[in-house]
Amino acid sequence: MRVSVIGCGYLGAVHAAAMAQLGHDVVGVDMDAVKLAALTRGEAPFFEPGLPELLVEASSTGRLRFTDDISAAKGATVHFIAVGTPQLKGSNAADLQYVDAAIEQLLPHLTAGDVVVGKSTVPVGTAARLAARIAEHGSGAVLAWNPEFLREGFAVKDSLAPDRIVFGLPPEPAGAAIAEAALRGVYAAALAAETPLVITNYSTAELVKVAANAFLATKISFINAMAEIAEVTGADATELADAIGLDGRIGRRFLGAGVGFGGGCLPKDIRGFMARAEELGRGESVAFLKEVDAINLRRRQRVIDHVVDLLDHEPFGKTVAVLGLAFKPHSDDVRDSPALDVAVRLKGLGAEVRATDPQAIENARRQHPQLDYRTSFEETVRGADVVVLVTEWDEYRYLDPEVVGALVSGRNIVDGRNSYDPARWRAAGWTYRGLGRP
Ligand code: UDX
Repeated sequence: MRVSVIGCGYLGAVHAAAMAQLGHDVVGVDMDAVKLAALTRGEAPFFEPGLPELLVEASSTGRLRFTDDISAAKGATVHFIAVGTPQLKGSNAADLQYVDAAIEQLLPHLTAGDVVVGKSTVPVGTAARLAARIAEHGSGAVLAWNPEFLREGFAVKDSLAPDRIVFGLPPEPAGAAIAEAALRGVYAAALAAETPLVITNYSTAELVKVAANAFLATKISFINAMAEIAEVTGADATELADAIGLDGRIGRRFLGAGVGFGGGCLPKDIRGFMARAEELGRGESVAFLKEVDAINLRRRQRVIDHVVDLLDHEPFGKTVAVLGLAFKPHSDDVRDSPALDVAVRLKGLGAEVRATDPQAIENARRQHPQLDYRTSFEETVRGADVVVLVTEWDEYRYLDPEVVGALVSGRNIVDGRNSYDPARWRAAGWTYRGLGRP
């Protein structure tokens, strides 16, 4: 099938390459010249495991190209909208300007039978509004909503072999039939592999995405709330998570207590959900998300408090080694990253912060040029008074406390991801502080 993908960021670039790999003829459209140049050379414009290989392979088929010219979308049957919906400045709501602009720019190139497919995460009600705009234009194109659940770091796998597919179809049967047929064509390979498919209406499809992310955020903040209780009772939140996670109804995944969630999705999606629920007169239904957000942000402060405590409440001029800057391992994304936030705030307290990350230094430097970034792990920790683990890259998870101990000035460690065995570090003479651990 001929497919266009509007927006080639973390979502669209991977989606475009995956679509080409699955046999479709794909054009990716984006405004960012640097991104386009990289993609056209078959290079990934950001760090995503497996994406460089996928781009090379997909480009070599001749079925994948990238352009800044939206008219290249003309002739495609399916047009994916994969632009960002960041948090609006000074508000919890999502900024829909890129989605609206993508639709407006696409309209003149649509013809009857085309299907515009929303993938961006949007406030519930957006699809109905966009469908009305497309109908008003009179091309005869229809809109479907097809939320994307890919995780950064696993985006290639999640795009080629998703764990579920959701089609949000238009209310009119004729339009729904056109949209469903096109989407079944696009996802033929995944559907043949018996990937579960949920066919529903626009609102449900939009809500599936925010509800899933709200649930995941709540799960993380739940265990972090338990960590706060553990901290005043001597309980251990990681053992608690192991024990409750054994209940099949609860499950151990996303019960990792630590410095909390960040990234381009969970934080802004729960805030956008709260803002939209308020508009709908149902603010109280998701009011708990305010606590979810607050618990999450408190964990960053807890890490900082541990560091300051280990520095005898005199952080000024002391050296702190921060391990990790990305919001999670296997990503170079620093959007709303707890790690970067902790590093910047420690620097604000007067500490000499040295920060490192296997992939995210460049992105972090762009946002916070004032920090001292080191590419070498040894240089980061040498002479440090406190070491702080904030992003649990494998490079940091399997450290030998004796080896690191020989480099630092003070054997003090704050384990912001509860990644280490406290007994092992303490046996090597370290003062160990985890989150929600005695
Ligand atoms: C998330 C959703 O998982 C994905 O389905 C959706 O499409 C986009 O948002 P992503 O932002 O890539 O994906 O990251 P995810 O793996 O969900 O992690 C989010 C954050 O939660 C990270 O900062 C991670 O460190 C944190 N986290 C995760 C915890 O603090 N504890 C956990 O137990 C799990």
